[in-house]
Amino acid sequence: QELKLSLEQIEKGGYEHFMLKEIFEQPKSVHDTMRGRLLVDEGVIKMAGIWDHIEKFKNANRIIIIACGTSWHAGLIGEYLIEEYARIPVEVEYASEFRYRNPIITDKDVVIAISQSGETADTMAALKLAKEKGAFIYGICNVVDSSIARITDAGSYTHAGPEIGVASTKAFTAQLTILTLIAFKLGKHNGNLGNADFMSLIAELEAIPKRIEDVLSSTHELVQNIAKDFVNATNFLYLGRGYNYPAALEGALKLKEISYIHAEGYPAAEMKHGPIALIDENMPIVIIAPKRGHYDKIVSNVQEIKARKGKVIAVVNKGDTQVSAMADYVIEIPETSECFSPIVASVPLQLLAYYIAVYRGANVDQPRNLAKSVTVE
Ligand code: AGP
Repeated sequence: QELKLSLEQIEKGGYEHFMLKEIFEQPKSVHDTMRGRLLVDEGVIKMAGIWDHIEKFKNANRIIIIACGTSWHAGLIGEYLIEEYARIPVEVEYASEFRYRNPIITDKDVVIAISQSGETADTMAALKLAKEKGAFIYGICNVVDSSIARITDAGSYTHAGPEIGVASTKAFTAQLTILTLIAFKLGKHNGNLGNADFMSLIAELEAIPKRIEDVLSSTHELVQNIAKDFVNATNFLYLGRGYNYPAALEGALKLKEISYIHAEGYPAAEMKHGPIALIDENMPIVIIAPKRGHYDKIVSNVQEIKARKGKVIAVVNKGDTQVSAMADYVIEIPETSECFSPIVASVPLQLLAYYIAVYRGANVDQPRNLAKSVTVE
């Protein structure tokens, strides 16, 4: 027993929990995801899984992304990325819905499954269905040689390293990195992403691990302090627009799964269609408001929240003034192109969920009722 405990201590590398270790590993894991693929000097993205089947992607009527949980959130961001840069229509589906709703699938469809574990039962069943109907099936998995990796026609591993904490963190940012690479590669190939834009985007992508490192060091202590004020919260809203709407969903999922506080993510503009009724002085609202990405619209959302006395925790770019002036708590992240902002913005949201859960005395690495891979329906 003692030996087992000390082995676990070693595996945690000095961190109190695997989740914290994995949050802090992200500069490295995102870098590892790009390693050997992103060749900025040559102006090339090398991905054999895509390149060997480029005709399938080029001729696809649409791409359908299937996944569950956090991987599904990554899929939503994948939709924004692929539609913006490669102009290929994308649909994102919960694997559990897709498999049972008699979907229309043809041999002109490309189905991408995203799964950290590569063992999720619903995702696996949805893929089998798509394969039977003749679709080309592609896997984005973290676990090498997992069931999903084995049944797909091709794929890309995320190479984030083993993720032990039940709450997915580094696997999520690695999935976003792969989806970004795929979107840029397809866009460059089909001519929707011009060379100059491609070159500047890939140079920016290469520097994302450094941005994550900056965010970790500049926000870690601050977020710990913010978390202390919300230990007794019973509800949370997370709001974002554009690329950061799925980041809001993911922030809310992180909080609910490890702290057991009820949290909901919403596209900020949907607030007025219902959730605004919930806002009063007891409602904490995390709002993701980077400069690039509907900033002015977010400013008015924050005004509406403050008029109802909601407590605003704002994730903004360094030097922000408008949202910061209204927010109760301000977390600054570096400015990036909009498509990279969910990667950077997710990091303080992971820390926030982590510290709130720790202060509530929850079992962060193994939350109640949850398993690391969901191999049953
Ligand atoms: C993430 O924090 C969750 N534990 C969960 O939603 C997870 O993302 C989901 O079960 C999908 O798992 P997969 O990526 O291994 O398929």
